[in-house]
Amino acid sequence: RQDQRNDDLKALIRTIPDFPKPGIQFRDITTLLLDAKGFAEAIARMAAATVGPVDLVAGIEARGFIFAAAMAAPLGAGVLLIRKDGKLPGVTIAEDYALEYGTDRIAMHEDALVPGQRVLLVDDLIATGGTARAAVRLLRKAGAVVEQAQFLLDLPDLGGADALRADGLAVDSLIA
Ligand code: PRP
Ligand code: ADE
Repeated sequence: RQDQRNDDLKALIRTIPDFPKPGIQFRDITTLLLDAKGFAEAIARMAAATVGPVDLVAGIEARGFIFAAAMAAPLGAGVLLIRKDGKLPGVTIAEDYALEYGTDRIAMHEDALVPGQRVLLVDDLIATGGTARAAVRLLRKAGAVVEQAQFLLDLPDLGGADALRADGLAVDSLIA
């Protein structure tokens, strides 16, 4: 039954070949977001898979915001925005990372959390793990306790979830 529910969610994700570059199979979650039941079920299951109390849910721009924001109320947590560099108005700290298709830099407000707060990291998808690992470095630099990450989708061949586990996190995803 769990497998059937995973397959039902998987069927809501569309694959677009050669986007944004030749050779990339782009996993497009916009089709899942358009499905009221599918999106609600994904959020409920990601929240249910979260262990223990968390103070903040950290979402990674842009698609991660959607999942982090929706999980915050069921978890009784606030939302911490991890944005592409140059978008946040206050004093920020930043980390560089390599993407499956390019490089980028993410940032957060340096005063977004109180050291010792428990932060759940959330994104739509983990591929190489470059983005999520940079987010963990950033959050830990700010003093967060980061022990778990939740993703809708894992691309296991790219090794990101395993790398994140090696960084000391419990990693869950609904779909591989
Ligand atoms: C995508 C996705 C993850 C990241 C995963 O974001 O939402 O954040 O790539 O890749 P990685 O594990 O190889 O780092 P993208 O940078 O495309 O930004 P977007 O959410 O703004 O579309
Ligand atoms: N982010 C990194 N790799 C991706 C992929 N293959 N599909 C969608 N988003 C991604």
